[in-house]
Amino acid sequence: MTSETSRGTALEALYEERRTFPPPPEFAKTANVRDRQVYDRAAQDLEGFWAEQAGTLEWVKPFTKVLSWNAPYAKWFEDGTLNVSVNCLDRHVRAGRGNKVAYYWEGEPGDSRAITFRELLEETARCANALKELGVRKGDRVAIYMPMIPELPTAMLACARIGAPFTVVFGGFSAEALAGRIRDSEAKVLITADGGYRKGNIVPLKKNADDAVAQSSSVEKVLVARRTGHEVPWTAGRDVWWPELVGKQKAECVPEAVDAEHMLYLLYTSGTTAKPKGIVHTSAGYLVGTAATHKMIFDIKEDDVYWCAADIGWVTGHSYIVFGPLANGTTGVMYEGTPDFPDKDRWWQIVEKYKVSVLYCAPTAIRTFMKWGPEHPAKHDMRSLRLLGSVGEPINPEAWLWYHETIGGGRCPVVDTWWMTETGMILITPLPGITTLKPGSATFPFPGVGADVVDEDGRSVPLGGAGYLVLTRPWPAMLRGIYKDDKRYRDTYWSRFEGRFFAGDGAKRDEGGYFWLMGRVDDVMKVSGHRISTTEVESSLVSHPAVAEAAVIGREDPITGQAIFAFVTLRGGSDGGDGLSSELREHVVGKIGSIARPKTIMFTPELPKTRSGKIMRRLLRDIANGQPLGDTTTLADATVVETIRAASAQGRDDA
Ligand code: WT7
Repeated sequence: MTSETSRGTALEALYEERRTFPPPPEFAKTANVRDRQVYDRAAQDLEGFWAEQAGTLEWVKPFTKVLSWNAPYAKWFEDGTLNVSVNCLDRHVRAGRGNKVAYYWEGEPGDSRAITFRELLEETARCANALKELGVRKGDRVAIYMPMIPELPTAMLACARIGAPFTVVFGGFSAEALAGRIRDSEAKVLITADGGYRKGNIVPLKKNADDAVAQSSSVEKVLVARRTGHEVPWTAGRDVWWPELVGKQKAECVPEAVDAEHMLYLLYTSGTTAKPKGIVHTSAGYLVGTAATHKMIFDIKEDDVYWCAADIGWVTGHSYIVFGPLANGTTGVMYEGTPDFPDKDRWWQIVEKYKVSVLYCAPTAIRTFMKWGPEHPAKHDMRSLRLLGSVGEPINPEAWLWYHETIGGGRCPVVDTWWMTETGMILITPLPGITTLKPGSATFPFPGVGADVVDEDGRSVPLGGAGYLVLTRPWPAMLRGIYKDDKRYRDTYWSRFEGRFFAGDGAKRDEGGYFWLMGRVDDVMKVSGHRISTTEVESSLVSHPAVAEAAVIGREDPITGQAIFAFVTLRGGSDGGDGLSSELREHVVGKIGSIARPKTIMFTPELPKTRSGKIMRRLLRDIANGQPLGDTTTLADATVVETIRAASAQGRDDA
């Protein structure tokens, strides 16, 4: 495991350095969590701890039972009922916060809007009424494929208002990827937009949506928000413009009270096979978990301006742009575009413009900013910042220190938060008012969370050692299953270590009990923090007529963490000229989306296999990373590796 070895070296270096960052005293004084007892309290009375958090929500029918845990199936607050959109909107308006800004929205071309909680509530109600008019009933699934515009959270909240589970598909996914998700979820309505802006160009969402709907049979109506105003293909009778249909609705909609365990949404994520998994999240536990973690970890106060710079298409956006922050009545920033449009200081301009106080983003973005240089943030007054967060992949100590110093001016704690699509909420994280930080460590499990590091046999590894990360107790925002695939749910997460959740990450604990995440231990890559399965990219490559076989691995990359490296053997007659490698890249983009475009494609006459015919990825990983090869004795044909090595100089890089 090459990546682990070299990260291990970086960690060793850090131990030597022993730099730690206790909470700044002024920060600690007013922090939401100031008392370490919170850990003991939650450990001793898990249900009491979460019941207290749940008490901050507004219930239609209060729960009497906190948890029923019949591993691997959890139910939280089972006999309670509530409505998620009411908790995110109505109760704040009723409490006199109607004129408080819910989102400062910033469009890529420079247009902007401030949307208050009252406005968001009214548009949500109109959208919910429109969905009903389109035939959506409680329990029906709605697919959402949109750019980062205010209609996106509105659509999610509208679905929640009427009890229709939604599935958001990231706007960068291809028509084919969207079609697969529509088919699996059997969505009745698709909500999209004419297009969105990215790097100054229009992303043709409506066109992709049409192609996807043509490849599926469940969608009856397509609701189209207007963003770019460009001409789009139109199917009369099926397609409806948002401004026309939503615009004419009443601004009130009686919320549907749903059971705590009613499905709130499905979110598809990559596993180790070619088929993405539909992760099921339900209502009450999810909202309790995201709201509590948001408030404690980001230390949210009434006057904070909080910016999570993720896309809502990923779980980070669901939990920490939409549900957690809105449940807490937080003012958020939402930005449509890329960090370098029109210039490399766009983010810092936004921080200055809105006086952002809490910023949450991904290590890959931080490393990109490091590369661009400190002159871009230096142009702006960023003294409003008081807390920084990181998520999505391990943050290397160098990037952590740069973020802390150059963005945070040395005064803002950095919370490195570990979690996954499946966990729904942050699970391993500092609490900024009490945790002494170590750059590169996500520190400790959140109160009430049980995390352990185990060896192959599931035995807890003593402090100082490394192994597999597992979760030992249920938590309220945990996934409730994989949609329509219970077997895969059990097999993927619960069969490797009996009764414990297997995360798929390697981790190490130091002598002080700090957790250091070390990357995935399965066939899942992390490219710019996005989760992509090697098998998914392989199967899209082999669907190209020139390709006989493909093996894909993640190669270490200084900016994106990992980059996609594809070994490809061609069918007879094809020699893999320059034209073919770019054709294959675009082929993968068409099948999955641009996030899966291979950076390097290497044509090789053969792939290294075991005698039983299994491709030896470990060897390929070593070759791609330029590492000494490990054990090659199980190879069927030892000369293959030398052939590939010799050819590896010719690997064609995209960038
Ligand atoms: C995988 C989950 C959680 C929102 C975004 C990613 C990696 C996530 C960290 C972190 C080290 C991290 C893990 C995990 N990961 N956060 N702070 N330190 N690794 O969600 O796409 O479901 O990916 O992201 O490898 O398994 P996701």
